[in-house]
Amino acid sequence: MDMVNSDAVAFSIALVFIAAVITKVAWGRKTGDLAPSCNNALPRSPAVITGITSAILLLRMLRSKGLRATLEEQYTKFGSVFTISFFGMKITFLVGPEVSAHFYQGLQSEISHGKILEFTVPMFGKGVTNAVDSATRTEQIRFYVDALRPSKVRCHVAPMLQEVEEYFAKWGQQGTVDLKQELVQLLILISARCLLGKEVREKMFDEVFSAFDELTDNGLQLTSLLFPYAPTPTAQRRDRAHARIASIFTEIVRSRKSSNRVEEDVLQNLMDAKYKDGRPTTETEVTGLIISILFAAKHTSTTASTWIGARLLRHTECLDAALEEQQDIVKKHGDNIHYNTLLEMSFLHNCIKEALRMHPPIPISLRKVHKNFTVQTREGYEYEIPRGHTIASPLLINHNIPHIYKDPDVYDPHRFSHGREEDRVGGKFTYNSFGGGRHACPGEAYAYMQVKVIWSYLLRNFELKLVSSFPETDWLMIAPEPRGKVEVSYKRRMVPRNVLEN
Ligand code: HEM
Ligand SMILES: *[C@@H]1O[C@H](CO)[C@@H](O)[C@H](O)[C@H]1NC(C)=O
Repeated sequence: MDMVNSDAVAFSIALVFIAAVITKVAWGRKTGDLAPSCNNALPRSPAVITGITSAILLLRMLRSKGLRATLEEQYTKFGSVFTISFFGMKITFLVGPEVSAHFYQGLQSEISHGKILEFTVPMFGKGVTNAVDSATRTEQIRFYVDALRPSKVRCHVAPMLQEVEEYFAKWGQQGTVDLKQELVQLLILISARCLLGKEVREKMFDEVFSAFDELTDNGLQLTSLLFPYAPTPTAQRRDRAHARIASIFTEIVRSRKSSNRVEEDVLQNLMDAKYKDGRPTTETEVTGLIISILFAAKHTSTTASTWIGARLLRHTECLDAALEEQQDIVKKHGDNIHYNTLLEMSFLHNCIKEALRMHPPIPISLRKVHKNFTVQTREGYEYEIPRGHTIASPLLINHNIPHIYKDPDVYDPHRFSHGREEDRVGGKFTYNSFGGGRHACPGEAYAYMQVKVIWSYLLRNFELKLVSSFPETDWLMIAPEPRGKVEVSYKRRMVPRNVLEN
């Protein structure tokens, strides 16, 4: 493991610990007492793992054992509620649906991202996330939900498909590619088109994305995460990149308004959004909202679609079944891909969902507690989680609990199909790849459409094989991605596609 060479910060892991520094968690017994305490009548305090034990844990997480195995070990030992303390920082893990409800649906005044997202203020600008009060933030989340709801996503299918066709037209008759790199390229083009709009896609593509890379590279450096406002060279580069993006979007917004031009992209929706009191969004807010949505969409989409590809190609029985589903749909509706045909791809849908169960792009979610609350475990124990604490929902553990997911290490898309529906076994918060409750991902429908457009096109037009071995997880990336290249060989299907029907 080479931390120096990983240009993206050890985001998911570091954030857990950094968040605790920022929020200055000061709670818990400073002892190495690992046994759950108290009698059964009163709520317990979670077991706290401290001192040398926690230092070893952290090391193992980062090096030999990996994040999942290390946390799973603690879960087996202490049950679904435990605290890891490291240099006085403490994070309480809430594992499994029984103890997750309040995490996801607690009132904003009782549970929120708190200062965990402070580093995003200089990245996204003054108009959004932590820079605004929670009422405004709630309204801005509504803008996202409105801009990405299924009726709007429907309009993105044709442009997505056009990008996909143009992109794969550049592939030869056969060859070998690094699927990861290919999907990175393709998804940036789709984001440019559907989220940012025509101006960026056609004229300012390189300018916007080099500034965006500069913004995230520097904004996610450890110093920027820990001290977002310190005048370090890194922070200055981050701020210059933000200023470049801001001026580009300000210009686009002004030009659309002055020429009364209306587009169908997400940018337009954010420009047209109005607060409850009738106030329209400002240029600063639109810039912040668009940077933040790109930030939320970019790495998650790339890693998601790469994992889905790796899983499909690794499990050829699933690949065959997914192809068969495509053939049935082609038979019924012809070769065109529409919103409604995408909705019919239920097996592909479950393949995607299953890949995201095993490889959630956001493997741990964090919140800050503003008001004490208690949780009850499956075994009936109550724990009190006090105010001021940082809590973590480790999806990468939640998604592998054997009493919920049968043989969790087996890739089995059928576990979600009618009759089994394992994602409902523990209620609403059993499956969390897109979060849930108050801060559920507003991009879920869009993300599924995007991946389905890409994979239905690939399945119909290419024979694909995974050449490299099944990738390991690189936990040090912003969204844990397949390590190294994902080499895939392709061969264009020679038969005209309507012959696939037979
Ligand atoms: C497979 C792809 C994706 C996954 C797995 C995913 C997952 C998530 C999760 C887990 C959260 C909640 C984080 C938390 O609880 O703290 C989230 C938030 C968010 N996602 Fe996604 N996401 C994906 C794609 C997208 C896309 C494509 C978009 C936009 C087009 C998007 C927009 C957002 C936004 C704006 C938020 C923040 C919502 C808020 O502040 O409440 N996501 N996403
Ligand atoms: C919250 O929890 C802490 C620690 O367990 C306790 O000391 C405090 O009295 C509790 N506060 C309330 C309002 O119950």
